[in-house]
Amino acid sequence: MKPKLSLVLSLSCLALGALALPGAVSAADPVKIGFLVKQAEEPWFQDEWRYAEQAAKEKGFTLVKIGVPNGEKMMSAIDSLAAQKAQGFIICAPDVKLGAAVERLARRHKLKVMSVDDRLVDGAGKPIASIPHMGISGHEIGRQVGIGLAEEMKARGWNMAEVGALRVAYDRLPTARERAQGAVEALKEAGFPAANVVDAPQTRTDTGSAFDAAGVALARQARFKRWVAFGLNDEAVLGAVRAAEARGVKADDMIGIGIGGSKTALNEFVKPAPTGFHGTVQISPKRHGYETALMMHQWITANQAPPALTLTSGALRTRKNQAEPQARAGD
Ligand code: GLA
Repeated sequence: MKPKLSLVLSLSCLALGALALPGAVSAADPVKIGFLVKQAEEPWFQDEWRYAEQAAKEKGFTLVKIGVPNGEKMMSAIDSLAAQKAQGFIICAPDVKLGAAVERLARRHKLKVMSVDDRLVDGAGKPIASIPHMGISGHEIGRQVGIGLAEEMKARGWNMAEVGALRVAYDRLPTARERAQGAVEALKEAGFPAANVVDAPQTRTDTGSAFDAAGVALARQARFKRWVAFGLNDEAVLGAVRAAEARGVKADDMIGIGIGGSKTALNEFVKPAPTGFHGTVQISPKRHGYETALMMHQWITANQAPPALTLTSGALRTRKNQAEPQARAGD
């Protein structure tokens, strides 16, 4: 008996669809996407989640947000996503060296994975090219910080030979290292003496840890009366600024420029009197949250993988220009 024409047609349509979209979910599967971040309490990551939620609402998928402060929590979060029948996840891991483990686990559970903010590396410390990534160019954004610091020192008429540069350091994280190196490079190009760069290694990437690290460094280098400060993010620089305040360094004698531009940083600009937190290079939690979520959705539903590497840009935002559209471009 010949099968009905309509049945043949619909079967071949299905076959074609399957051919065109290998690995794509069928229309009946509800899309579920995980968004795992290393430091859920940090405003930057809260913002990323908020924008990812926006994408979820627009596209009608479920977003599963999980804080993963350590490797163990990260592994069990990935297992739990698989158990919940998620199809993929976006991750900023607590340690980039867990990259190979992330990839292995994702593959085992048939989960698609892309990273955000901190690029995952393999055992040899090389970026894992097979995991799509969206982040900033640490070096370029760091240079913007350094240029901003040099310009403000010039505007205040400082003699750079007498200024200390506080490098709040978290060197185990490649993007942190690159950001700080970019800042130092730009400072040196502007004529800042390399010998005046003072390291303040932090043990975590929050404000408290930066405050402690900066306090020690400032006490050791009391010969400097004026300071500039930079580091991985706004928290690093806010910690340095608060430590300088605690030691009696006046706002006029301190120029800190962070990276991020979330609420806590911007709050410094609306305080009645300026603080040592001079500026922040505003980067885009919207691109990192909303766009990564859309990319993952597209990958799952249309089997279109995200570009291997997307680097987003930033702009210096200060008390003076903070309301201008150019400084807010990354909002
Ligand atoms: C790292 C930092 C965060 C934030 C992001 C931006 O993950 O820890 O504070 O700066 O990069 O990409």
